[in-house]
Amino acid sequence: MLVIDDLSKQYATGDTALRGVSFTLQPGQLLGLIGPSGAGKSTLIRCVNRLVEPTGGSIRLRDVTLSSLSGADLRKARRRIGMIFQEYALVERLTVMENVLSGRLGYVGFWASWFRRFPEADIERAFALLDRVGLMDHVDKRADALSGGQRQRVGIARALAQDPELLLIDEPTASLDPKTSRQVMRLITELCAERGLAGIVNIHDVELAQMFLPRIIGLRAGEIVYDGPASGLNAEVLTRIYGEEDWKKSSQSEEETDSAPAGVASLSLDPAAVR
Ligand SMILES: Nc1ncnc2c1ncn2[C@@H]1O[C@H](COP(=O)(O)OP(=O)(O)OP(=O)(O)O)[C@@H](O)[C@H]1O
Ligand SMILES: [Mg+2]
Repeated sequence: MLVIDDLSKQYATGDTALRGVSFTLQPGQLLGLIGPSGAGKSTLIRCVNRLVEPTGGSIRLRDVTLSSLSGADLRKARRRIGMIFQEYALVERLTVMENVLSGRLGYVGFWASWFRRFPEADIERAFALLDRVGLMDHVDKRADALSGGQRQRVGIARALAQDPELLLIDEPTASLDPKTSRQVMRLITELCAERGLAGIVNIHDVELAQMFLPRIIGLRAGEIVYDGPASGLNAEVLTRIYGEEDWKKSSQSEEETDSAPAGVASLSLDPAAVR
């Protein structure tokens, strides 16, 4: 459903963030995007919804070539793509409900959105989503009165309120503790499965990626260096993605604990054991 072909991005500063990136995402497929800082992960997902303008290649979502849209057509296409961010991007002084309803802004007219008047159906949908993400008791709280995990649940509900086909998720757990991170990842994967949504998740935590995301793309310096199942992330692949230095440290500690094969044992948690 999402076809990315030979995508490249060079920023005006001269930084080349993406070089010839090509892959296809199937309907309902969840993809983890991993790679060192600066590899181009955020640039890639921002190119998909055109927050960043690609300098080459094409991006197609079903029948629409996103990379050549502008104006009203681009705004319409963006409704089909939900974004979830590390820093939640909530409007602090608005309530949880108002933040979720803001996911509908792409659908209501200018004056209705100015007065924040939403159709009854949108409000019902927002209640149902807040119930689903476990925030029914916090509907009228201001966003700035929530914990990090609760804020991310609002971010997820807001993205879903928009009724997207594709979710773009940039480091959803980077500001969360390990347990809350798992809860948020579990919620995201369950919601995608329930709704048949495809998603791209930028994630630094390889263990978490392996636990929840069946397919992984590894980016290094703007190029895809791995595209395959999460189970294929062995020491050799991780070295290809992140470089030698990082993995020496982890294989040393594993040698000390006498586990084999070197380099990946700590990354092979049984998902059933932690869910
Ligand atoms: N607005 C910008 N202007 C110029 N260069 C940029 C801009 N945004 C990103 N870059 C550069 O593009 C490259 C890729 O950055 P990007 O933010 O996509 O990486 P990332 O993989 O998301 O990193 P991180 O894991 O730290 O979030 C880097 O070299 C970065 O400095
Ligand atoms: Mg990033």
